[in-house]
Amino acid sequence: MAAVRDYYGTVLASSSDLKTSACCTATAPPPHIAAALKQVHEEVTGRFYGCGTPIPPALDGPTVLDLGCGTGRDAYVLAQLVGARGQVIGVDMTEEQLAVARRHQGWHTEDYGQIAAYRGTLAEHPHVFELDDHHRFETGRPVPVYGNTADMLAATRYGQHFTVTGDKTTHFGLFPCAPGAAVPATTADSTAACC
Ligand SMILES: C[S@@+](CC[C@H](N)C(=O)[O-])C[C@H]1O[C@@H](n2cnc3c(N)ncnc32)[C@H](O)[C@@H]1O
Repeated sequence: MAAVRDYYGTVLASSSDLKTSACCTATAPPPHIAAALKQVHEEVTGRFYGCGTPIPPALDGPTVLDLGCGTGRDAYVLAQLVGARGQVIGVDMTEEQLAVARRHQGWHTEDYGQIAAYRGTLAEHPHVFELDDHHRFETGRPVPVYGNTADMLAATRYGQHFTVTGDKTTHFGLFPCAPGAAVPATTADSTAACC
């Protein structure tokens, strides 16, 4: 196991370092997979160590488990296919691989055009509520949020303190969280503008 971890975590730095392509298919992925692949971060695809993309059809709704997900290329593709009711779980034993997958988690979030506005009704936070280190809500200011955050705000104990508008009927693509993307910053010094 240590040798496997070392190979995938240390020896390989990109797909071009792979020592063999013996079992890889030369067939191009179908158009819907190819389109989803274009939405995956380049560092993730650059460290793809798999062979082909064994993703079956009719994936709207299920929970998919990707064992040996590596940097998560297929998991990020699957996340685009399972829809709002589905979920994807990636498991890997190589920390370096998982670090890449996690680093780009925010970059891959889904945009359904939802907006959240904090009502200022938490007694301890009358002016600003910080959900975490990259979700800062000024009272009354509408902020674009990605699907998971909208759920986190609307369907939990925070629900009574937020007005969340929009649902998941229209998928606008990936939330523009990439560095330099045009996401309205909620604070002047916001470094992680992804909501
Ligand atoms: C051929 S790579 C494929 C990685 C990824 N699916 C991809 O397409 O880029 C195999 C992956 O399986 C992981 N792996 C191998 N044995 C494992 C085990 N017993 N438990 C968890 N992960 C394992 C390795 O760490 C490696 O990331």
